[in-house]
Amino acid sequence: MKSVLICFFSGTGNTKKVVEQFSKTFQGQGFEVVLHNIDDGPFDGEISKFDLFGIAYPVHAFNAPANVLEFAKTIKKLPKKQKKAYFVVNTSGEPLKLNNISSLKLNSMLRKRGFKLTNEYHYCMPYNIIFRHTDNMAHKMWETAQKVIPLDCKQIVDGEKSRLGYVPCGRFLAWIFRVEHWGGKFNGRRYKVSDKCLKCGLCIKKCPAHNIAIENGEFKFGKDCLMCMRCSFNCPANAIKIGLFDKWKVNGAYDFDHFDEKEEQTHQKYCKKSYEKYFERNQKRIETGE
Ligand SMILES: Cc1cc2nc3c(=O)[nH]c(=O)nc-3n(C[C@H](O)[C@H](O)[C@H](O)COP(=O)(O)O)c2cc1C
Repeated sequence: MKSVLICFFSGTGNTKKVVEQFSKTFQGQGFEVVLHNIDDGPFDGEISKFDLFGIAYPVHAFNAPANVLEFAKTIKKLPKKQKKAYFVVNTSGEPLKLNNISSLKLNSMLRKRGFKLTNEYHYCMPYNIIFRHTDNMAHKMWETAQKVIPLDCKQIVDGEKSRLGYVPCGRFLAWIFRVEHWGGKFNGRRYKVSDKCLKCGLCIKKCPAHNIAIENGEFKFGKDCLMCMRCSFNCPANAIKIGLFDKWKVNGAYDFDHFDEKEEQTHQKYCKKSYEKYFERNQKRIETGE
């Protein structure tokens, strides 16, 4: 039986949703699928034993999150002359071309380890920071991803290459924006918990960096924040203030099942053109099946 390994990180569930759709599709094609959550640390199996290998993450400041790059460091170098193809899957709140540079650092790390990028796919999923998309928009994004993923899986299985286009000076821009990796840690220490806190401990339990603790009855946020938003997004009392970015906080899961055609979209003007292009491009693919 053919097999596929997908190593993924997902702060607030969007990337996980997409990866699970990949998994379902590959399974439907007779593959055995192993999903490795980067939260659980390094992958201790042998990657080269899998027929297909993919890595998935949410775009953070036009880059892969810091823990995804740390994870890449734990991947063993392949023996000389052995090359292993891999695919990249990423999700982001906007369909901006600038997001395509997010995998550049990851790719150069994997290239040094003997891996070769053949396919890369981006899916627009609702923002978990900056502003809240409407559930209508979340539904539309998810519906689009669900319809496009089978086409993307087919390309991977058929050995048909597919790469995203980069913007000029992408490597330099990605390097600049990686300041977020340090900025996140700096800002993470400034998180605060308000009186609304229910003391449910969900944030402590779910933080992928184990960065939240209670000491002497007070919440303590350490120096390892990944800015993934899992704590504040999922807080049932919306009690976590996310430091300098509190105005951009998004709290509460999206209802991906909600759809009302008559409902107005908020933020209609924000990146309107690029969202339209994203949906048009994908609609064309869905209609032609290519
Ligand atoms: C710290 C941070 C930085 C982000 N930067 C970008 C970005 O540069 N471009 C973008 O389109 N979306 C950005 N996003 C939005 C996420 O990529 C998007 O909501 C993603 O689908 C979240 O996936 P997840 O639920 O798997 O974590 C950012 C989110 C966070 C938390």
